[in-house]
Amino acid sequence: MAKSYHIITFGCQMNERDSETLAGMLEAQGYVFEEEPKKADVVLLNTCSVRENADKRFFGVLGQLKNPHERNPEMIVGVCGCMMQQQRIIDMLKSKYPWVDLVFGTYNIGEFPRLFANISREKKMLVEVWESGKPMEEGLPQSRAFKFKSYVNIMEGCNNFCSYCIVPYTRGRERSRRPEDILAEIRALAQDGCKEVTLLGQNVNSYGRAKSIEGSYNWVTDEPHLDFAGLLREVDKIPGIERIRFMSSHPKDLSDDMIACFGELKHLCRQIHLPVQSGSTEILQKMNRHYTKEQYIALVEKLRAACPQIAISTDIIVGFPGETEADFEETVDLCEKVRYDSAFTFLYSVREGTPAAKDPEQVPEAVKHQRFDRLLDVMHAIQEDKSAADQDQIYDVLVEGQSKTDPGMLTGKNEFGKTVDFKGGERLIGQIVPVRIVKAQTFSLYGELL
Ligand code: 5AD
Ligand code: SF4
Repeated sequence: MAKSYHIITFGCQMNERDSETLAGMLEAQGYVFEEEPKKADVVLLNTCSVRENADKRFFGVLGQLKNPHERNPEMIVGVCGCMMQQQRIIDMLKSKYPWVDLVFGTYNIGEFPRLFANISREKKMLVEVWESGKPMEEGLPQSRAFKFKSYVNIMEGCNNFCSYCIVPYTRGRERSRRPEDILAEIRALAQDGCKEVTLLGQNVNSYGRAKSIEGSYNWVTDEPHLDFAGLLREVDKIPGIERIRFMSSHPKDLSDDMIACFGELKHLCRQIHLPVQSGSTEILQKMNRHYTKEQYIALVEKLRAACPQIAISTDIIVGFPGETEADFEETVDLCEKVRYDSAFTFLYSVREGTPAAKDPEQVPEAVKHQRFDRLLDVMHAIQEDKSAADQDQIYDVLVEGQSKTDPGMLTGKNEFGKTVDFKGGERLIGQIVPVRIVKAQTFSLYGELL
């Protein structure tokens, strides 16, 4: 019988994409996917460190694998991803989870087959974590979660050092893939039936900008080459690609040329995720974000002028050190002005090693929670109001599968990134079909196939 694997992925889309590479490598060796982690011969945990609760969840899930690992002498458990780039985590694994077979970091995913071949359960934990990256690797296998849509990494790492964020330490300096490699990958995806691509990077707006600095190994020089808007224009020409999305964008790097793409390109979805983090200019400065509340609002106005229907979503951190009641009110005011289509709100989480962690003005937990709840209410009211406009609209929906809650229903996404459920047969999965909205709720839309 073929050996089996399971990969548990925490965190962002970059991690999901990395897990598809790891799955591709295992499948190339004949492993088959097993739904139940405890029954698999190989279990990998791809971790996230962006907030503390992701750390906690990881240790909880890992702990549950101890008994199955003990019972099955053939079972291999490996851990990888952002958490492994921190020495304190490696130390904790060595002292409390010494039974883990393999530990590797974000820079050496391409080395996984070699590391995997060297694992032996009798020997102690195999640890290989590099401190800095090579150029982004090309040509690694991939086992895609969906045939009709795919993530495509265009860059990795971040040079922004927002003062709360661990990512620049775990994913390293910014480096971009060469445009010809990205376009070749997307052409191949399109030929394989892929209709939607989401271009991924920590800060896609600065694609192709960061030159080689120590540890970044970038190809970028002063010679003319594509920037992010240029790349989008090329992707837009690829036959078969009907939808282009991207994330994430840093407001400071959102160029006018990029904004113009929303009015210009045929396949670019009218949707942008534009993390604001806070509405207080003072807090934004402490966060090292390089824009003011007014500059952010001006960007939103420009986006809406170029493309009136554009859906805008954001990330907000509540309770950053030093955030006063007045600062928080600025965030509420910004949200009321922008009227986001959706927002991810986070409680500020102390990340060891970042400048904000050392700030003496930490906001008490109770205050953070109270502000968080208030912000959620504000957002909810805005979204409820906005979603009423979806009633009776006709949207093209890319059908992703059967609804998890009701197998008689299909579920998919419209251009604006909203989920639409409707009745229809399985053969529609992977197709883009017109659906009229008959019931518009705040977080979900119900429609009928036309
Ligand atoms: N605490 C809370 N939220 C954070 N984020 C990043 N670091 C932290 C932190 N220390 C949020 C930001 C970012 C999103 C991916 O995670 O809002 O945009
Ligand atoms: Fe973190 Fe800021 Fe870089 Fe985003 S732009 S990954 S929030 S440092």
